[in-house]
Amino acid sequence: MNKPQLRGDYSRAALDYSVEQDWAAYTSEEHALYRRLFERQSKLVPRYACPEWIAAIAGLDAALQIPDFDQVSKKLKARTGWQIVAVPGLIPDDAFFTHLANRRFPVTVWLRKPEEFDYIVEPDVFHDFFGHVPLLFDPVYADHLYEYGKGGLKAMRLDAVKMLARLYWYTIEFGLMKTDSGIRAYGAGLLSSGGELAYCVDNSRPHRLAFAVERIMRTEYRIDRYQDSYFVIDSFDQLMRETAPDFTPIYARLRGLAPFAADAA
Ligand code: PHE
Ligand code: CO
Repeated sequence: MNKPQLRGDYSRAALDYSVEQDWAAYTSEEHALYRRLFERQSKLVPRYACPEWIAAIAGLDAALQIPDFDQVSKKLKARTGWQIVAVPGLIPDDAFFTHLANRRFPVTVWLRKPEEFDYIVEPDVFHDFFGHVPLLFDPVYADHLYEYGKGGLKAMRLDAVKMLARLYWYTIEFGLMKTDSGIRAYGAGLLSSGGELAYCVDNSRPHRLAFAVERIMRTEYRIDRYQDSYFVIDSFDQLMRETAPDFTPIYARLRGLAPFAADAA
């Protein structure tokens, strides 16, 4: 559910938490700040981002100003059936899962303040767009996220959202991928981070563990610092394949087991 003190304006949101993007209301200062964020990350992604992300960003024309969601949705819809839906910020689990299960990705409308250039607690339009949207152009990733949304609604019925949320955290937000040119990031929290994008690949301190659904579901995480552990997939095909089985018996089994600390090896 919502964390306390969310800063978005929820007063105009529809029942599904969608809002108008109101693109014309962004100021030139906001577009300039977005452009600076984009420039900084652009220097890092050729070396650290997964090939699927790099292939998609080129076609998005998103470097110079905050993108118009409707324009991007048209391209996205033609490619993988996904659309962007504008939201005021974090939204409740049921609304979030329902959007994903209908191939709609919620993107926050507001941009961080200049003093939050390096670090922001809540997701803003830069994190949501730059980190998440390009990968929705990859058909396998796109199908996987759709399955995740349906799985989220099911996890709510089974009281297992906490376990499924760890999977989201260690894949969609902080996932690494093995490629021919070495370890690369596909997690949105990494792709949009000025510091952690290089850290997650180059630094020798964090653990880089092989992707394993049950291990991830038992692993705690920290939201206020670079990750202690990353999980590495071989491909989006592997991610799709290994998350396809019915999680119902897994949830039942894991419920009684003690979690692993975020930095457990
Ligand atoms: N297979 C999962 C289930 O049965 C659903 C899911 C798919 C979850 C893909 C995450 C990713 O609950
Ligand atoms: Co995110």
